Amino acid sequence: MKFKTIIPLLVSIIIFLAALLLYLINKTPSDNMTFTKFDDYEIKIDVPTTEYELIENEIQEFIQSEKENFFYNIDITLDVNTSFEIYYNTTFNGDVEILTLYSKIKVGNLYKNNTKTIHYSLKENRILTINDYLLDETKLLSLSQISYFAIMEKINQQGITLEKDTLEKIISPISNNYKNFQLTDEGLQLLFILDQQEYLEIPILLPYAQINSLLKAEYRKNVIAPYKRDLSQFAGKKLIAFTFDDGPNSITTEILLNGLNKYNAKVTFFVLGNKANANSATLKRAYEEGNQIGSHTYNHKNLIKLNASQIKGEINNTSSVIQNIVGAEPLTLRPPYGNANLLVRQNVKGPIILWSIDPLDWKYKDKEIVKNNIVKEAKDGDIVLVHDIYLSSVEGALLAMEELYNQGFAFVTIDEMMQLKGINGEQGKYYYKF
Ligand code: NI
Repeated sequence: MKFKTIIPLLVSIIIFLAALLLYLINKTPSDNMTFTKFDDYEIKIDVPTTEYELIENEIQEFIQSEKENFFYNIDITLDVNTSFEIYYNTTFNGDVEILTLYSKIKVGNLYKNNTKTIHYSLKENRILTINDYLLDETKLLSLSQISYFAIMEKINQQGITLEKDTLEKIISPISNNYKNFQLTDEGLQLLFILDQQEYLEIPILLPYAQINSLLKAEYRKNVIAPYKRDLSQFAGKKLIAFTFDDGPNSITTEILLNGLNKYNAKVTFFVLGNKANANSATLKRAYEEGNQIGSHTYNHKNLIKLNASQIKGEINNTSSVIQNIVGAEPLTLRPPYGNANLLVRQNVKGPIILWSIDPLDWKYKDKEIVKNNIVKEAKDGDIVLVHDIYLSSVEGALLAMEELYNQGFAFVTIDEMMQLKGINGEQGKYYYKF
């Protein structure tokens, strides 16, 4: 071999080795990490490599918009601590890959955080939205209503003030407002980001007790404890306890439950033992969502006409059927027709709850009359009697809540009311109002 032909060969080998060396040096722990150090600041971007084009597009879109955000805010003329970082986290839920991208921008005292969660179905090869997890499209409105009160509670605790318009905008029922979501063991985590002022992040966690009825069956989780509210939110408010008798009913009670979210309302159901089993899913839902379950006896008999053992049977049979369904014994009693005597009082475990407002809903069967009859009487501490087995009653009660909510009333269960008013419900004692 002549010397002249060896030179190009050697050059080729040297170039190849140099390229290989450069490649190995540049290879960082994460395949897709870029790290740029400037004189005044540093940029660190760590995102996963993916074979799925739809995910890649979402990642690039996020990087692009965050970069624009960073370069818009950066001020190199000021000698301040500046950094920009994007990192990620990946989890799987069955066939769904959940990628969360985080962006942290810091320019002096200015912090701007942003987050984007991508749910990608490997099976269907598409990006999922919150609607893919919800039972039907109407449930986004319920989710929005629940989120509203959860955010209110959160910002009140943290002393943040938020314009009503701003809050209503970020929770309005469009799926894009709910893009940062994740189902965890505890419930649905949602992250709301306010980009107007300074990228305020508001994370909330909605427990399964609150959202099970909104989710598709495969995403629901068994509720260990019913949803309990922070009662401090009602301090100084006018309170009303709505009570619903003669149910549960798998249609009308469900309509009522769907409507309560809008007014942050929890109510008390005095249920009949003979209807509980046939409507057990509704009863369970009512309880898990934080409503109170009381007893209205087993067969709706006039208790003052019964002997002691018959009274015991009416009360104890109801208690055991409810206990079997919701896992807790009803301690309060509403006797049918409001009739009780000494024998009844001796055989109940807790207080006897009567009422101060009776709109005669069963008689009029007209939602406007029901509403008006409630609203004109309503005062702080009232107990309202309605029957959740009639659509007109349920709709009338919800209409009354709408009007009373706008007047500043809050809607609580009997137990919540007693707690807020500092009353210990005494065994066998009558309560008409608080
Ligand atoms: Ni009744």
